[in-house]
Amino acid sequence: MKPVKAQDVDGVVVSHEEVADDFRHLEIEIEGAFLDAKPGQFVQLLPGAATSSPLLRIPLSISHIDLTASTFSVLYEIVGSKSETLSHLRISDPVSCLGPLGHAFPSPPGGARPLLVGGGIGVPPLIHLGAHLRGEGRSPILIVGARHAGKHLPPRLLSPATRDLRQATDDGSLGHHGFVTDLLAAALKEDLASTATDQSVIYTCGPHPMMAAVARAAEEAGVLCYASLEEYMACGFGVCVGCVVERSATPTSAYEQFSRVCVDGPVYDSREIRW
Ligand SMILES: Cc1cc2nc3c(=O)[nH]c(=O)nc-3n(C[C@H](O)[C@H](O)[C@H](O)COP(=O)(O)OP(=O)(O)OC[C@H]3O[C@@H](n4cnc5c(N)ncnc54)[C@H](O)[C@@H]3O)c2cc1C
Ligand code: FES
Repeated sequence: MKPVKAQDVDGVVVSHEEVADDFRHLEIEIEGAFLDAKPGQFVQLLPGAATSSPLLRIPLSISHIDLTASTFSVLYEIVGSKSETLSHLRISDPVSCLGPLGHAFPSPPGGARPLLVGGGIGVPPLIHLGAHLRGEGRSPILIVGARHAGKHLPPRLLSPATRDLRQATDDGSLGHHGFVTDLLAAALKEDLASTATDQSVIYTCGPHPMMAAVARAAEEAGVLCYASLEEYMACGFGVCVGCVVERSATPTSAYEQFSRVCVDGPVYDSREIRW
């Protein structure tokens, strides 16, 4: 999918609530290109009106777009100073919004079954993707993992993305006791038992070790896998080199060896990355 041209626009908070342990759902009313954002694209937010300082902004994936209300939503975890600052936003407060940024998830080929595999702060872009795919008549499976039940997003926020939700927790307090990769392995086995000619295609976002394990499982199964990398970012538009990841291909130069996630990603074919 081609990126939509980014804009710097002031939005207004229309709702802001706690939806899981340390997780907030923030809905912002806005006009312009944001409402054309594609699944996998992200925004850089800053409480208050527009500023030229990129370093204070927080990159967050778009989890939902409501065209009727002219709003977009993000879901974020409070982990440090920027997310903490964001958590103080109240209804009607202004928010400076830069975006939509980055490359979106490619569409699944042919009749392939989309398997969406997310963990922690990686779930929000998969909610947007799942809802988009359902709008195109696809039936995505959403596999999500968290440390314990309290860290799982509520079903009302996940249901637009799927009619087939599979959950895992590290401590067994909700759903499968174990990792999302166990549930992914079971879903991939369903492919072998199915009469459908098209294989699954995997979309993943979450902690780095989880995505590395998902990428390995995809490679072993010979299945296409797209990963959205949520690396630490500073400038967000390619100048600080604070967000680089190593490519898997043998490089002929340092330039080729590394990729800037903010401009080349955040979505990659998982085979492109040295995990
Ligand atoms: C493209 C993109 C999309 C993102 N989408 C979301 C989203 O939808 N929801 C969400 O909650 N977060 C998302 N993030 C991550 C979010 O931007 C960071 O958690 C946030 O910037 C942390 O800032 P802070 O000042 O609150 O914490 P900091 O003080 O910067 O960090 C607190 C702790 O978290 C660690 N940390 C910070 N950033 C990251 C990161 N990106 N990955 C792993 N560990 C990190 C730090 O090492 C530190 O231990 C996304 C990041 C990117 C690049
Ligand atoms: S965040 Fe500055 S180059 Fe990517």
